[in-house]
Amino acid sequence: MTFDPSQYKITTRQQWEDAAEAWHRWGPTLEVWLGGATERMLDAAGVTRSSRVLDVAAGAGGQSIAAARRVGPGGRVVATDISPRILSYAARAAAEAALTNIDVLEADGEALDGLASQPFDAVISRVGLIYFPDRQRALAGMYQALRPGGRLAAVVYSTPDRNEFFSLPVSIIRDRAQLRPPQPGQPGPFSLGGPGVLEAELAAAGFQDVTVEVIEAPLRLASAAECVAFERESFGALHQMLASVPPDQREEVWEDIRRALTRFETAQGFVGPCELLVGSGTR
Ligand SMILES: C[S@@+](CC[C@H](N)C(=O)[O-])C[C@H]1O[C@@H](n2cnc3c(N)ncnc32)[C@H](O)[C@@H]1O
Repeated sequence: MTFDPSQYKITTRQQWEDAAEAWHRWGPTLEVWLGGATERMLDAAGVTRSSRVLDVAAGAGGQSIAAARRVGPGGRVVATDISPRILSYAARAAAEAALTNIDVLEADGEALDGLASQPFDAVISRVGLIYFPDRQRALAGMYQALRPGGRLAAVVYSTPDRNEFFSLPVSIIRDRAQLRPPQPGQPGPFSLGGPGVLEAELAAAGFQDVTVEVIEAPLRLASAAECVAFERESFGALHQMLASVPPDQREEVWEDIRRALTRFETAQGFVGPCELLVGSGTR
């Protein structure tokens, strides 16, 4: 089957509409897991007091809130996402945190054109770029949204061998569903993780002073079973991959995944290997 970017985007949007509540519910786990990378991303984007920040693929807003706290009342964060439902959780989280400097805006990260008229000091995106079928179009929009001298910083996964908490489930499901891996250039969790890939994409979009930092971000949970629950509930793409496995066999696949993940159970609980990249560049 050939890859259809328009259909892919419709499916991706629906996946996140469906997974929105779970992504929000697992928020405390996400912020512990991704907290270090988030701070590095905000540093790399130069986010500071009074900055204006555009957050692309903001999801339930974990990193938008971290950015809003950093910029303070004199700054502003515009949290954008393709899924209105997940953004409603971001808006609610901002209200609960009594933050009045966050706006939410439904927007496809590949169509940010309307935002160029109000240039931002920084653009951030946490595990979002991997979902864009046309990354150069997305990066061009982010570039245009920045003021000259403004910084983009994005967090992505590195390679499958360094991210087994996720690559093991993906490969077990892929085997059972007899799916082909994404082709180079197509979106996928590890599509920007190979050596030099993120650097090349940022440079091709015109960014200067491109740097990529590697960050260890082990996913710490109580057990392999909890990791399965986390991914099963909130990683919508796994369900889509499972769609071609007969329903009565799916439970067995999740059990295979749990068994495979027990190799990461330690005396201190489950420690799932995860390595992230923070890529950044200047307009
Ligand atoms: C893994 S979640 C990350 C959410 C958030 N940045 C975080 O780290 O918690 C990926 C997000 O990308 C969004 N997304 C996927 N494709 C998108 C697109 N084309 N434009 C904007 N957002 C998109 C999804 O709706 C989802 O909220």
